[in-house]
Amino acid sequence: MEDFKLHNDEKKLLKIFQEAYDNKNITKLSVEGLAKNELMGSETKVMRTALWLSAEDKKLVNIIENKSKIAKLTEEGKKVVEKGLPERQVANYMIENDLKNIPIKELGNILDKSEVNPALGNLKKKKIAKIEKGNIIIENLQYEDKEENTLNKIKINEENKNSDLNNYNDEEKKLINNLQKRGFIAIEEEVDRAIELTEKGIEFIKNNIIEIKEEISQLTREHIVSGKWKDCHIRPYDAKIPSEEVYPAKLHPMTRIINDVKEVLIGMGFKEVKNPIVETEFWNFDVLFEPQDHPARDMQDTFFLRYPNKGEIPEMVKDIKSIHEKGMVGDKKISKGWRYEFDEEISKKTVLRTHTTVSSIKYLASLTDEEKEKPHKIFSIDRVFRNEAIDYSHLPEFYQCEGIILAEGVHFDNLIGLLKEFLNRLGFEQVRIRPAYFPFTEPSLEAEVFVEGRGWLELLGAGVFRPEVVEPLGINKPVLAWGIGLSRLAMLRWGLTDIRELHKNELNWLKKA
Ligand code: DAH
Repeated sequence: MEDFKLHNDEKKLLKIFQEAYDNKNITKLSVEGLAKNELMGSETKVMRTALWLSAEDKKLVNIIENKSKIAKLTEEGKKVVEKGLPERQVANYMIENDLKNIPIKELGNILDKSEVNPALGNLKKKKIAKIEKGNIIIENLQYEDKEENTLNKIKINEENKNSDLNNYNDEEKKLINNLQKRGFIAIEEEVDRAIELTEKGIEFIKNNIIEIKEEISQLTREHIVSGKWKDCHIRPYDAKIPSEEVYPAKLHPMTRIINDVKEVLIGMGFKEVKNPIVETEFWNFDVLFEPQDHPARDMQDTFFLRYPNKGEIPEMVKDIKSIHEKGMVGDKKISKGWRYEFDEEISKKTVLRTHTTVSSIKYLASLTDEEKEKPHKIFSIDRVFRNEAIDYSHLPEFYQCEGIILAEGVHFDNLIGLLKEFLNRLGFEQVRIRPAYFPFTEPSLEAEVFVEGRGWLELLGAGVFRPEVVEPLGINKPVLAWGIGLSRLAMLRWGLTDIRELHKNELNWLKKA
């Protein structure tokens, strides 16, 4: 043999190559195939052994890696292959029940709520039906659907281990892109590994008889007394070898983001406050100087509670009424106000909080006169709710983080400095600030961060609370405020393009994230 010593596993791997070469002149084998050979047994072992054999002192093999993108059906996608796309389910329903038209409202009985809007769009787009006055009127139920064909093809390719994205033509790729956005297909990266003999490796297996000794990892008295140890290979320890990946228990990625953000903010001297999920319109909107006819309060966005549909509001509502109607705090004129008739009954209505700004304002309202004299830095991280159709960038409940600084003499520049520091600490190196509008701050800003490959992304809203917001609470010092969407942050951190991925509890992803 050569002047280097081979480990038993190295001999085994070369032995497999020797046979393949002798029989069929083969010099390259897939890691997957090698792992199935009883001399190896696992991909980890193949890789570990190949690493040794490829090292500088031996160079008997090369490790070849081929990265590819593969298209797979998601759980939703699998269902759709069975039942058809939501628009197909509508068409089938109409065929089965011999209907020429149905009211849109009825779709709720056929489909999941989240599928209704996409189904409607596609019924129109695919010319299956037209929509008139809230009715779906069929045009063509016997249609062929390229998206469904593509889904079927993906299924078959998956069964044949043929899922490489390159197996699809440009038109199919476009369809796949759409289906990915609808959550039916996931694109994953796959690494194909193979081991190939080098010239030196080929020479080696041609010229050597490879003898595999019995391998022992425990030396016994028996081995020594009988002298058998001389014929055995005693396995050495190597603490650096690549090993099987283990996935210990860990926190959910969303929880980890929350903890990280908390740690950053606590490190910057903020204190956390918590508040309930159910709020009155008074706290969610009125105190923030959002007029009662503001479109954000509309059914579109806000979840209103049926039971209890009214909550208690404090005495202070008189002051809030006065600022909304006339811009007055007591007999002090702050601004023109909104000049409409403020309705306390609206203030009492219960909602699921639509933003965490409630927590900031409630904190300010809770301060005693003495406390108001001191500076304050607080934040909150909580779930907020908005009545939005679910898609790749929207969920009806998501996380926000919000904070304020109340102190004598702080101003807009301090806010910008603070936010840059905050975003830097979260790992965003490039931050830029743009003017913005929020009903409760003036001036207001939006902060954008630069993300490699994605460009500038808006992450955060902020501003100085308006006098109409703070004066009725008896606060006459500046309050700097900011709010950030945590789900967005989580998506960037984990490289997700679909917000639903965060909450699907897909084990494979959770293990690796
Ligand atoms: N509450 C705003 C939202 O949900 C976010 C926000 C913007 C919070 C500006 C703030 C702020 O404190 O100053 O869209």
